[in-house]
Amino acid sequence: MDRDPTIIPLFTAEEIARRVEELGAEIGEDYAGKNPLLVGVLKGAWMFLADITREITIPHQCDFIQVSSYGSGTESTGEVRFLTDLSTPIAGRHVILVEDIVDTGLTLSNLVNRLKEREPASVTICSLLDKPERRKTPIHIDYLGFTVPNKFVVGYGVDWNEKYRHLPYIGYLEF
Ligand code: IMP
Repeated sequence: MDRDPTIIPLFTAEEIARRVEELGAEIGEDYAGKNPLLVGVLKGAWMFLADITREITIPHQCDFIQVSSYGSGTESTGEVRFLTDLSTPIAGRHVILVEDIVDTGLTLSNLVNRLKEREPASVTICSLLDKPERRKTPIHIDYLGFTVPNKFVVGYGVDWNEKYRHLPYIGYLEF
């Protein structure tokens, strides 16, 4: 019978809350007077977005996008297909893409290029996690929560086959 993997804790709920508060404050300072649009990339970023929006005290809006990466097996090719598109036009808007984790970077670099076709005033990236060891294309993360090792991480919105999203902390799986 298959056993569930063990979860090795990386960041507690309290550590995440503190970091999210800092990132929210930074965004609030950088975007004062700009009315930015936070775009959460579903599904992984929903919990992060829900928390960071409450830490940004300047006026801003939120929207969501869901993409799937084409590719065989577990390796993404980065070619993105929009499963759910934005409900807001972004031409002339300051967009902050809110991601759960940047891994190879292929999905995000492709997504940024697709969004830039809509002529936003700017696009920056806010990612909860960064796994730089697996990067295949350079990505500048403007607002980063935490760097993680080359492990499969879960929790705080991030899943493994739809499992463990609900966990209030972040850990990695040991099989
Ligand atoms: P990439 O940067 O194009 O390779 O893909 C990034 C996406 O892969 C993320 O938004 C996640 O949905 C997923 N992903 C990458 N690494 C992990 C992980 O360690 N745990 C859960 N999902 C991951």
